[in-house]
Amino acid sequence: MQALTYETIKIEKEDGITWLILNRPEKRNAMSPQLHADCNDALFHLATDPETKVLILTGAGDAYCAGQDLKLFFRGTEGKPRERFEASENSHSWRWQRLSRFPKPTIAMVNGFCFGGGFVHMIACDLAMAAEEATFGLSEVNWGIIPGGSVSWNVVDVLNMRNAMWYAMTGDPFDGKMAAQIGLVNRAVPLEKLREETVELAKKLMTKNPMALRYTKEAIRAVRGMNEAQASDYLASKTDALRYRDPEKGRETALAQFVDEKLYRPGLEGYLRDKPKT
Ligand code: ACO
Repeated sequence: MQALTYETIKIEKEDGITWLILNRPEKRNAMSPQLHADCNDALFHLATDPETKVLILTGAGDAYCAGQDLKLFFRGTEGKPRERFEASENSHSWRWQRLSRFPKPTIAMVNGFCFGGGFVHMIACDLAMAAEEATFGLSEVNWGIIPGGSVSWNVVDVLNMRNAMWYAMTGDPFDGKMAAQIGLVNRAVPLEKLREETVELAKKLMTKNPMALRYTKEAIRAVRGMNEAQASDYLASKTDALRYRDPEKGRETALAQFVDEKLYRPGLEGYLRDKPKT
């Protein structure tokens, strides 16, 4: 695939990991209309990029993302309905639709400030790692607005009501350790170890069957809005679809390796994906 170059983001690839780096460090990676357009385009191309096995989203410099660019996204589009519409569409498209439905595993690596609209793409990623030193905040109330776009909806998806209310109503900043404690991110580690630990996680995901991973993440997301009967029916169809779509035929190989060949223990590890089929 041709190298992807953009004005406001960087795309870097290494050993199956694609880094999507918000790259406006001088503005703490606040999201301008151009950044939304760039991210939207990048995710469209990366979705089918064979070199991208896992996507990691992070920010350049000492910020992950300071939310919407208050000057360019809000004031800059005032009285310009077409520009406002385009910026909003791109903003929602990449941060939620394209990212939460991305066909490969996604990890948010929160390296510093993460505010307001930055929560959307952080939560849209399947997994999130944070620096203990990172600063999070639902700062909307501090400047007289509500957590809009889809922020409130995203937040109650991962936080319990008490914590969602607390942070949305006080606007209090909190660190990465607290973010892990309340379940907003999976793990918080010292900043100096953040990249290494995030890469480790990405490498672990790359040892798994890619189609099984894709169907797993789709299933986990989809069943949340279903009742038991709907979920059972959906999961049965999804299970069948995976058996049909999986180019590795992982289930058959894995069953044979455990039941017949006694090669691995699925409770403790994955099946041997690189072993030639017998
Ligand atoms: N929108 C526009 N510009 C921003 C934003 C933002 N969200 N965040 C930072 N910047 C700009 C600053 O205006 C400043 O620009 P300048 O150098 O041209 O003056 C530059 O980034 C650096 O910002 P400082 O405030 O000087 O940096 P500092 O490290 O001291 O503070 C912090 C960083 C805490 C992120 C602070 O900039 C801040 O509070 N930003 C706003 C965070 C926020 O509330 N975001 C909106 C959430 S609501 C929503 O997304 C809908």
